[in-house]
Amino acid sequence: MSPRLVGAEQVIARCQQLARFSEDSAGTRRTFLSPPMREVHREITAWLQALGATVRIDAAGNLRGYYAGKPSAAPRLLIGSHLDTVPNAGAYDGVLGVVIAVALLAALDGEKLPFAIEVVGFSEEEGVRFGEPFIGSRALVGRLDDGLLNRQDANGIPVRQAIKDFGLAPKEIPEARLETNTLAYLEFHIEQGPVLEAAARPLGAVEAIAGQSRLKLTFLGRSNHAGTTPMHLRHDAVAAAAEWISAVEHLAQNVPGLVATVGKVEAKPGATNVIAGEVLLTLDVRHSSDKVRVRAVDDLIRKSEEIADRRGLKVHQGVMLDQAAVAMDPFLVSQIEEAIRQAGCEPHRMVSGAGHDAMILAEQIPAAMIFLRTPGGISHDPAESVAVEDVEKAIECGVHLLHHLASSPEFLKRT
Ligand code: GLV
Ligand code: MN
Ligand code: MN
Repeated sequence: MSPRLVGAEQVIARCQQLARFSEDSAGTRRTFLSPPMREVHREITAWLQALGATVRIDAAGNLRGYYAGKPSAAPRLLIGSHLDTVPNAGAYDGVLGVVIAVALLAALDGEKLPFAIEVVGFSEEEGVRFGEPFIGSRALVGRLDDGLLNRQDANGIPVRQAIKDFGLAPKEIPEARLETNTLAYLEFHIEQGPVLEAAARPLGAVEAIAGQSRLKLTFLGRSNHAGTTPMHLRHDAVAAAAEWISAVEHLAQNVPGLVATVGKVEAKPGATNVIAGEVLLTLDVRHSSDKVRVRAVDDLIRKSEEIADRRGLKVHQGVMLDQAAVAMDPFLVSQIEEAIRQAGCEPHRMVSGAGHDAMILAEQIPAAMIFLRTPGGISHDPAESVAVEDVEKAIECGVHLLHHLASSPEFLKRT
């Protein structure tokens, strides 16, 4: 066995090692260009350089590791995922895809393919710090625009300033764009749901990624004394929000395939003996059909207005994201299925309910994803895990896939 090989156990150990680089001492939280991202870059850079790759951090904070092909002007294949996390995160969402990409380079053991491989560790996919996801991948497709660069975090720091604070130059963002000779983008990712486990399949081939809408809502009522204000004279923003949250759940329970989540609720002023005058909420709505998703969002906005009117409140809504569902590249999906079979597993075609950088890259280049079974379907939580045997299968599948693509005239003529 080559000393450079990175086995499944080492992949898992590396993910756990990176999970320790966090903004919080109690758990993993690593938002866009926060200080621990520098440590993550340092570790991954060392792993990639040891394999002969050259590494840079682009102006959007994405780590880009370039492993040359043969000839040196060969087109490139991107393999990656994101390095940011949600608060109180697990160790594998995103990071696993980058660490598997490194393991695939290691498995090549110096072999040069007719395409270069660029390992990409995206700076931001979760939308935690600025309320809008995909900052990293949007730079690659040329959509990291002024609107997003000016968006502020909870401390009033705009994306543009966060980039400068990390020592990067926003004016160089255009240089982060995809090279014209990029063949495709591949992403390994944990499923983050229970489908593969229920089907007893270690690996899945993603054929589409569900669209998603994200909104912010504010119910504005009247804050007042909790002891002296009779119930019929209140304009309680928490009560209005609670009624609306129930309506969100009810709608999603009654539309097949729809998922809708109110993930954040903030009542102001937030005291036991004060009726809340203001409540801020977030809404996340997803479906594989954009028509169904958009109709659900419209219905929920209307419902918020009806509730506010009836209770004598105002409500404001702001759309943070309206991301259409995206199909993965059919040729790559079939190649992935073949590679999964060669790794000794039965492939499972599926739709991803989670958003991924692949849906942004798919705007400009063929993109596809390989899912790894997620024990218990648990993700966005410290209990997130992955089985060593499944990571082994994923690496095996990835090696077969690279070799299939390397010998596929159909793939190589795609730029
Ligand atoms: C990303 O994890 C998402 O929210 O889908
Ligand atoms: Mn995530
Ligand atoms: Mn993810």
